Amino acid sequence: MARAGRRGGRCGRRALLLCAAGAAGWVLAAALLLRAGPGSLPQRCSDPRSRRLLAALCQDFQAGVLTGDLCEDLCDRGLLHYVGCLSQERGKQVLRAEWRGRPVVLKAREGLPGGPLPPGPLDGAAEDLPEAELQLLVAAEVQAVLGPGPAGGGRWPWARWPGGRGGRVASLGALLRQEELVLLGQLGGRSPHTPPVLGSCGPFYALELLAAGGPQHPALFPLRPVGARARTRAVGAVALSFLALARHFAGDFRHRLHLCDIKPENFAIRDDLTVVAIDVDMAFFEPKMREILEQNCTGHEDCSFFDCISRCDWHTHRCGAQRLNSNLQVICDKIFRHWFVSSLQSSLSLSLQQQLREAVLECADPGGAPSVGQKLQRLLQAALRELQDMEE
Ligand SMILES: Nc1ncnc2c1ncn2[C@@H]1O[C@H](COP(=O)(O)OP(=O)(O)O)[C@@H](O)[C@H]1O
Ligand SMILES: [Mg+2]
Repeated sequence: MARAGRRGGRCGRRALLLCAAGAAGWVLAAALLLRAGPGSLPQRCSDPRSRRLLAALCQDFQAGVLTGDLCEDLCDRGLLHYVGCLSQERGKQVLRAEWRGRPVVLKAREGLPGGPLPPGPLDGAAEDLPEAELQLLVAAEVQAVLGPGPAGGGRWPWARWPGGRGGRVASLGALLRQEELVLLGQLGGRSPHTPPVLGSCGPFYALELLAAGGPQHPALFPLRPVGARARTRAVGAVALSFLALARHFAGDFRHRLHLCDIKPENFAIRDDLTVVAIDVDMAFFEPKMREILEQNCTGHEDCSFFDCISRCDWHTHRCGAQRLNSNLQVICDKIFRHWFVSSLQSSLSLSLQQQLREAVLECADPGGAPSVGQKLQRLLQAALRELQDMEE
């Protein structure tokens, strides 16, 4: 839990009540916003603040304080430029930018220019530390962040960084403080359901800009197709991709990958309607998940870590280390139940509507059978076939 404690904005066990009160406040605020319509979303970002941050980043680059493979494009060549601000909540900067004509996001949470710098993994390491030693330090820190034996070997891009100006160790240290970057770096762009890291400058790392979800979109994501049938088909394809994501995270890595913060805003779609997890601050491989869950408890409510829950053992007063629910269960509960069922319904036969509704409810129930994912998959495929038949 030591690392979890470092993470801002999380509910600790003792802070659960406070968190619950906070959550209730957010629900109320969200409800009011939804009533008022998407046009009235509050201004959460500040353009001047974002521009100041990037200017300070480049000053530090020129001074040799930090570096990265994107610094020259951003600071010298004008090939990476700021477009707008997406979010600046709880200190995490999410900026929209264009890199060599390609839309990207730049993200950073820790080690921002002028910001506090908590102790980091590479503190004290010399700038001229031999490559092999640096690699060992990085590998140890990656393991400390992700837990023992994470999936495969990540490709860390520091070898491509422009040499000579310094700042390599500090920049690497800043990147390693950010769990999201460590996880995405480790996956190394090999997962179709997470964004590859395109490069970095100081603490900022670049990811592909995708079409992010949000409660303001009637079908969860901004869908392009016009016409009711085409939209329904797109919704079906997106739902199938959510199922593929759940299967992928459950079975394709050395350890299961748990998503503990499942909500529309934390997913996006590519042009081909693949669903991508764009906020993985709270994604943990199985061994780390077990460490986080296994806490002292006096009741089951002490054993919930956002969307990841286990149960309190009354004899030992310890939470079970094994997560009881699954990514799929939470996706069904927090996403499918609210969006896809209603947007798929209107164009389908009554019997398929009924079966889909029942399967989603079964899947959303934490006690549901594990095979419900396959059932949902079959029904969604049947729904897509039915839509196609209607068009022929
Ligand atoms: N790769 C991306 N493509 C498009 N939008 C993104 C991307 N990453 C983040 N966003 C947008 O920025 C918001 C905040 O980013 P996120 O990583 O979720 O930060 P936080 O941890 O503050 O929630 C997301 O909800 C989404 O709207
Ligand atoms: Mg988020």
